[in-house]
Amino acid sequence: MKARAFFTTLGLVFAAAACASNGGATDELNMGLSKASVFDTPTPAPYAYSDAKPGWNDPLPRAWEDAPPQIPHRVDKFLPIVAADNQCLDCHDVPRYIDQPRNMDRSVKSKSPMPRTHYASNELDEVSGARFTCTQCHVPQSNAAPLVESTYR
Ligand code: HEC
Ligand code: HEC
Repeated sequence: MKARAFFTTLGLVFAAAACASNGGATDELNMGLSKASVFDTPTPAPYAYSDAKPGWNDPLPRAWEDAPPQIPHRVDKFLPIVAADNQCLDCHDVPRYIDQPRNMDRSVKSKSPMPRTHYASNELDEVSGARFTCTQCHVPQSNAAPLVESTYR
């Protein structure tokens, strides 16, 4: 009986010692991506989306081959996309320009047709339902600094 009381006490002493030494726990500065204390309320650095009109911008580099290209122009005037009104299609549903050379020489407005994959059939007369909500895959680029460096290739 006495022995059990002794070992219980010993256990409690060890447990208390482990807590006091922090036992390798993550400290408050390294719990998230921001590397700031979790007890602070940091103000995020301001960032902005492009306010460039469509028609005169160069395409942005793709993140990887066949990645959905990022949108190089403003989108605030064209959203939201709803069943009855998809303004992205007003400019991008132009199948006659598919496979035509891109005109980026600024002499006339550039054309940026959606690829064949975005249509329901080879007739290219109806947009595939799975592609209707353009912003599900295509995002406008902002000038926000990356939170962490990416080495993805
Ligand atoms: C007024 C016409 C117009 C509207 C509306 C428009 N776009 Fe564009 N978009 C363009 C043109 C022209 C380009 C070619 C690059 C440029 O000039 O900005 C382009 C470029 C793009 C690109 C890049 C293509 C590439 O090859 O890199 C994507 C993606 C895109 N737009 C998506 C959208 C989405 C999504 C919407 C709706 C929220 C939209 N656009 C609305 C005209 C338009
Ligand atoms: C399910 C994801 C997805 C959706 C939704 C989607 N796209 Fe795309 N889009 C892609 C991918 C992936 C590519 C790149 C593949 C390629 O170049 O063929 C692409 C390419 C494009 C391009 C560039 C074509 C080129 O020749 O460089 C344009 C423009 C575009 N999409 C416009 C749109 C518009 C407008 C909508 C909405 C009506 C839309 N996309 C919806 C995934 C999507």
